[in-house]
Amino acid sequence: MQFAIVIMAAGKGTRLKSKRPKVLHEVGGKTLLRHVIDAARQIVPPEDVYVIVGHEASLVKDSVAKLGVQFIEQTEQRGTGHAMLMARQATQEYQNVIVLYGDVPLIRPETIRRLRDFHLERRAAMTVLTAAPKDLQGYGRVIRKSNNSDEIRAIVEPKALTPEYAHATEINAGIYAFSSKPLFAHIDSLGTDNAHGEYYLTDMAAILVAAGERVLALQAEDPDEVLGGNTIAELMAIDGKLRLITARRLMAEGVTIFRPETTVIDAGVMVGADTVIEPFVQLLGETKVGKECRIRSYSVLEHATVGNQVLVRQGCIITQSRVDDRALLGPYAHLRPESEIGEGAHVGNFVETKKIRFGKGSKAGHLTYLGDAEIGEGVNVGAGVITCNYDGVTKRKTVIGDHVFVGSDSTLVAPLTLGNGAYIGAGSCITEDVPEDALALGRSRQTIKEGWSAARRNKKQG
Ligand code: UD1
Ligand code: CA
Repeated sequence: MQFAIVIMAAGKGTRLKSKRPKVLHEVGGKTLLRHVIDAARQIVPPEDVYVIVGHEASLVKDSVAKLGVQFIEQTEQRGTGHAMLMARQATQEYQNVIVLYGDVPLIRPETIRRLRDFHLERRAAMTVLTAAPKDLQGYGRVIRKSNNSDEIRAIVEPKALTPEYAHATEINAGIYAFSSKPLFAHIDSLGTDNAHGEYYLTDMAAILVAAGERVLALQAEDPDEVLGGNTIAELMAIDGKLRLITARRLMAEGVTIFRPETTVIDAGVMVGADTVIEPFVQLLGETKVGKECRIRSYSVLEHATVGNQVLVRQGCIITQSRVDDRALLGPYAHLRPESEIGEGAHVGNFVETKKIRFGKGSKAGHLTYLGDAEIGEGVNVGAGVITCNYDGVTKRKTVIGDHVFVGSDSTLVAPLTLGNGAYIGAGSCITEDVPEDALALGRSRQTIKEGWSAARRNKKQG
């Protein structure tokens, strides 16, 4: 029971002006809280992570329920010090408590480890992670005893900054290591005599110093890592930094990303070497793209699995679907969930698919809807073909064998099976199964009336 991690996530986030609780806002494709929990879980097992919840507690809890962390309720949000008081019972048996703020999402596990080790080695009562960013606005300042001392005197919140602190350019990151004994022995000394009338956890620094305890500062190497997000603009700046970190990782692995600042790529995305990503592409969720692909502009892939040497032309949407090697998509193909596009297959302009298997080398070039269908290899689906998979009540399935030719503008009314090698004449409405190698025509025969048009013209003029 050496370390507990307490994550402060009970606040409303008034400065966001949003209905959604602050820690459920997203940066880099994940909620702020999820980022912080993921870092914490690298340090201690989830049962030693305590999340303080309050504002919209059940929403916040539900969002991370499956991660196995613990929750502590802070029904009234009376400040970060008050939140720590709520955690006393659950954490006082641990020798040390690390505190993370739910709105400081870029913190890396390496830095938390550095703080932990420094705190233990130096036998401090409290160690404060600090940083020296260019923009100090909104942060509490850390006042060291002297310039070259690790020891600090106090943390001063922005509203209490009098001119005597003008020189203090080191900020409080909102991340601390505490030894439980001195923390909980003195936490009752916290008061609310400040601009917000709240219990500030930051006041523990001065309280512990007054009690003769050692309070130290450790500066983070990269100030970006401890950026806090209190406003939407701050959150979007963090999002931009995260996206760039991911794009740089992919580029280091051999992926070409033109104008990376225009792409939106989530942290979990994997892309193989020699793949080219054009401007304004979004790769979201658990998307995986293989080697030597090209993803052209304005395509959005979410939880997509794409093989090697695939060409995704402009404006495609691929959601929860799989695309095999050398397939060719778009422009403007829409693959809805559970579409599986076979090797070398072609799904072209304005083709929509849903829950289909589309065999190796098959083609649907233009203006088509294929849903709830199993389509074999080497099939040619003409322009404007529609699988009628829904009768208003139930979804029904279409099965198309290998090397079937479906003429343009045909409607295939499910349930339906077209045997291998079958041929459907253009403009057919097919309602019955078609045997292997047969021709099916489901349209009225064309009639010709000689001279009809000329006669009509003459009558009008007459
Ligand atoms: C806090 C620090 C400040 C520091 C900055 C770093 C205090 C008093 N000030 O200011 O020195 O530079 O973070 O980003 O701590 N929370 C609760 N319960 C509460 C109040 C807050 O759980 O009663 C949670 C919030 O949800 C949030 C975190 O604590 O995740 C920080 O609170 P916030 O109000 O954002 O503090 P800052 O004003 O940013
Ligand atoms: Ca904050």
